[in-house]
Amino acid sequence: MSAWKNQVFCEDALAGLARVPDGSIDLILTDPPYNLGKDYGNASDQQSVDDYLAWTEAWIDAALPKLKPNGSLYIFLTWRYSPEIFVMLKKRMTMMNEIIWDRRVPSMGGSTRSYSSVHDTIGFFVRRKDYYFDLDAVRIPYDAETKKARSRSIFVGAKWLEVGYNPKDLWSVSRLHREHAERVDHPTQKPLEIIERMVKASCPPDGVVMDLFMGSGTTAVAARRCGRDFVGFELNPEYCDIARRRLEALAETGKPLSDPQGQTPPPRKGRRAKSTPLPSEALEQE
Ligand SMILES: C[S@@+](CC[C@H](N)C(=O)[O-])C[C@H]1O[C@@H](n2cnc3c(N)ncnc32)[C@H](O)[C@@H]1O
Repeated sequence: MSAWKNQVFCEDALAGLARVPDGSIDLILTDPPYNLGKDYGNASDQQSVDDYLAWTEAWIDAALPKLKPNGSLYIFLTWRYSPEIFVMLKKRMTMMNEIIWDRRVPSMGGSTRSYSSVHDTIGFFVRRKDYYFDLDAVRIPYDAETKKARSRSIFVGAKWLEVGYNPKDLWSVSRLHREHAERVDHPTQKPLEIIERMVKASCPPDGVVMDLFMGSGTTAVAARRCGRDFVGFELNPEYCDIARRRLEALAETGKPLSDPQGQTPPPRKGRRAKSTPLPSEALEQE
């Protein structure tokens, strides 16, 4: 096994990328800081707009050479900077989809002077026309009622009815609120259901997924659950530790770990810098 595979390196992604050979990654699936003022134990989410966009462009340029020619990239963003970052990526790749993740469960409070934001904006990009995409792996089964409604003879046994439908670009999956069984102690942990769909569709079974900003290690756990290899980076040692424990629990039990301490996660402290003026969305995103 290559020394760089199946590890979350506890270091700056820009430095860590040197470990990864060029052209070795099938899927970059990444969830960078959104620059909404969150406290990840570092200043990555509290930059000036110019610094944030320049830093984003720098890591994109460092990461893309690692991708195979038929590889893909998914990036989680919010409406606040997705326009600028999508333009950066569109100069380098072909945009296939803007996926809206409807987080479903609204947060408490939030702005009284604008609408509550309950979605993430996810960009899906590829490099070439022959990019890997396994639609059958992510089809959604028709429910019994729909099948029943298609009982006319021309539909019976029809492949499309049996294999299910192609997921739309609006994904309604509950965010991982504090009571959610999957939740660990990371403020922007992503649901495995979403990440696993991306892995199954866009990384071949023997492929490698790279996440530059691992947080609690969701991409690593999803990759292993789907039988793929992974590599990634995370700056905060506490999050690295959570990722490590989630991976160990998965290896031991075959199940993802919901709470690394085996107890209710403690209240999260200082989720945003007090001195940082915040857009309303930062208050609303758990
Ligand atoms: C949006 S969160 C990722 C959450 C993750 N998807 C999960 O499910 O837990 C972004 C993460 O990037 C980390 N980060 C910020 N700057 C970084 C850098 N330069 N290198 C590596 N990690 C970084 C932050 O500490 C934070 O945990």
